[in-house]
Amino acid sequence: MPTPIPRSRPVMPSDAATAAPRVIAVASGKGGVGKTTTSVNLAAAMVNAGQRTLLLDTDLGLANVDVLLGLSPRFTLADVFAGRCELADTILEGPNGLMVVPAASGKQHMAQLSPQEHVGLVHAFSELDRPIDTMIVDNAAGIADGVLTFCQASHDVIVVVCDEPASITDAYALIKVLNRDRGVQRIQVLCNQVQDASEGPALFEKLQRVTTRFLDVTLNHIGSIPRDEWLRRAVQRQEAVVDAFPSAPASVAYRGIARRARSWQSPMVARGHVEFFVDRMVAAGTGPDGGLPA
Ligand SMILES: Nc1ncnc2c1ncn2[C@@H]1O[C@H](COP(=O)(O)OP(=O)(O)O)[C@@H](O)[C@H]1O
Ligand SMILES: [Mg+2]
Repeated sequence: MPTPIPRSRPVMPSDAATAAPRVIAVASGKGGVGKTTTSVNLAAAMVNAGQRTLLLDTDLGLANVDVLLGLSPRFTLADVFAGRCELADTILEGPNGLMVVPAASGKQHMAQLSPQEHVGLVHAFSELDRPIDTMIVDNAAGIADGVLTFCQASHDVIVVVCDEPASITDAYALIKVLNRDRGVQRIQVLCNQVQDASEGPALFEKLQRVTTRFLDVTLNHIGSIPRDEWLRRAVQRQEAVVDAFPSAPASVAYRGIARRARSWQSPMVARGHVEFFVDRMVAAGTGPDGGLPA
């Protein structure tokens, strides 16, 4: 049994091993805009910068994280839920020590899990006894309950958007429901597949104009990723572009975003994974009553 993590202790510099990981959710509303690409490359860039990083794939789509990185899952979260293995058994070793938890087969989408199963997953994270600085959660498209819960339970949400009407509309819809129903007040916006240096800021402006008018939310433009042919070549090689082609324009941009993300304000207290998630879930009305072992 792992040692329980003490409640609300101040974070000491030497305490990194027991401090709660910074959790970053990547979402978009619309599919196909670059969530998984962003999750993989941000995670890889963070690992390369010395951060102990875990990438959690919650979307069983076609372009899974494990496929993109050429990894072969032995167990998935479905096995954890079924009691067939521990969470630690699902962790694949990715490039340079990146920890990858692959999408659960057996459920079409993590977003379809019940709140009890979400809490079960959360509980499973408490069993992890390896230190993690940053956890990146790659979400499914849409605004299903599971996506919203993962976003709400994270310290920061990156909304990936590209310059097409459906992407902007869906990003707005996601931000609106996160803000109004889930109390999220800060959103990091990543503009993807931009064609030139001015497209990102202009796209961010467009999104900010509507959110300022109708919502009580602060948007921050964390950066833009150019549409980059090197990225497609990296996909063919089943590698992150930041590893396969470090000087490609997209790689440079991802490293910049990873650097800025590291400077976001840290959680003030060391809190266990479960405590952090469960607190947020209780606040969301999901509650730990439905299934969390005592
Ligand atoms: N900046 C980019 N430049 C070129 N292609 C990109 C870029 N971002 C994403 N893609 C491509 O777009 C497609 C969808 O990306 P993906 O990350 O799977 O989207 P999502 O996870 O949001 O559904 C993939 O084929 C991916 O390689
Ligand atoms: Mg995806």
